[in-house]
This record gives sequence, C-alpha cells and structure tokens, in this order.
Amino acid sequence: MTNIRIGSDINALARTAADAIQDLSKKAISQTGRFSIALSGGSTPKTLFELLAREYAHKVDWSNTYIFWGDERCVRPDDPDSNYKMARETLLDLVPLPASNVHRIKGELEPAEAALEYEGTLGTFFQDQRPRLDLILLGMGDDGHTASLFPGTDALNEQTRWVVPNHVMSAKQTWRITFTVPVINNAANVMFLVAGSGKAARLKQVVQGAYAPNDLPSQLIKPTDGELIWAVDQAAASLL
Ligand code: 6PG
Repeated sequence: MTNIRIGSDINALARTAADAIQDLSKKAISQTGRFSIALSGGSTPKTLFELLAREYAHKVDWSNTYIFWGDERCVRPDDPDSNYKMARETLLDLVPLPASNVHRIKGELEPAEAALEYEGTLGTFFQDQRPRLDLILLGMGDDGHTASLFPGTDALNEQTRWVVPNHVMSAKQTWRITFTVPVINNAANVMFLVAGSGKAARLKQVVQGAYAPNDLPSQLIKPTDGELIWAVDQAAASLL
C-alpha cells in the first residue's frame, strides 16, 4: 500500500516532512543513540530545510543527527549546483549540528574516486554493513528520476555497490554521484518530496502506472524492510 500524504502546498509538505524528521529522529536516538538522514538535492527540499532551521533548531537533537546525501553533482562544494552548498546555507549552518556530523559527497574529486570515498565514509559509519539509514529524503524529477538514478543509465542496474558515479546526458551532460537502489531500499524510512503541477503527470505514471523502471527509476524505490512515504502537494497530486 502506497503511503501518500497530500499537503495543500509546498509549505504544508515541508511541515509534514519536518514533523516526520522530528518524530523519526526522536525514535532513532532513543533506540540507537543516533539518527542518520540522507538529504535530497534540487529545489524542492529548500523549503523544508528553511523550515527546519527556522522552527526545529531545538526540536531535533542535532548533536546526535548525522547528515548524508543521496546524491551530489560532480562540482566543488561552493558551486551553485552543489546539493551540499544549498543544504549548508539553508540548514546546516543554522542549527546546532557539529560539523563532524556532516558527511558530504566530495563532488570535487574524480567521479570514480568520489564514489569510492563515500562508500568508505558509509562503511565507517555503518561498520562495513550495507548502510541502513534511518531516513532517506528523495525528490522526483519530471522525467521520473530520483537521486541521480536517471532513466536509461547504468546506475539503475547496480546491485552490489553502495555508491556509484553516473554519467547523465539529460542533466546538462554532467557526472553525478548517487546512492544505488540497494542502499536506498535498505533504509528504515524513505520519503519522497514532490511539489508542483509540473510533476503531476509523471507522479501519476510512477505511482499508478505500469511498472517501467528503466524509464521511471522512482518506481525502483521499494524499501525492503522500511516505510515509503510520498509527501506531495495538491498540485503534484492533482491527477491521482
Ligand atoms: C538532484 C536531486 C534530484 C532531485 C530531483 C527533483 O541532485 O537534483 O537529488 O534527484 O531531487 O531532480 O528536483 P527538484 O526538487 O528541483 O524538482
């Protein structure tokens, strides 16, 4: 059963996600002493990050919260395209989060090296077991991609590696670094954040249409032993 939470607009969607982060972090920290979350990139999560910084600085135990990314562009950390830069400016620099709790993907490295380096970071944090994050935030592109798992790309079929470089012709012919499907599906919770009427037709295809994961990579996301939540606004949900 697909768990879809519809908010009136992107602010309501951000509130849903922020409250979920508060709740999941409290549970994880009480059970294991830590909360691991992978942030998504792009523009949709910016409203969420700004809300977290504005109202959740003291509602989340940031000292025991550990920040990862589900994907990153192969750019420097101060590049306008950097997912890390956007998160740092809208959230990470504004809450009481130790810098040592932030594990960015080093997009400035050669793609293959950046992926291996990040697998090492994950291996250290998860004692060399397949990473099981408490929460992975994802976006969905209007082509149905998620993280940097784009239609027709090699990364879609990777079943062994945790993190891979992925060359994406459609995204300005850039290299990306991305979690693989096995890592995303090993998470305890996965939450898509999707907003805007421009996503409505694709969201209907992904959630209600035929299974065609090579064209609609977001359909690959089915947590093996975890919760999948779609937090969407009314505009994106208008065709469901
Ligand atoms: C990225 C993201 C990507 C994003 C979608 C949606 O690095 O761009 O991780 O998967 O979530 O492209 O992006 P928007 O939120 O900007 O629509």
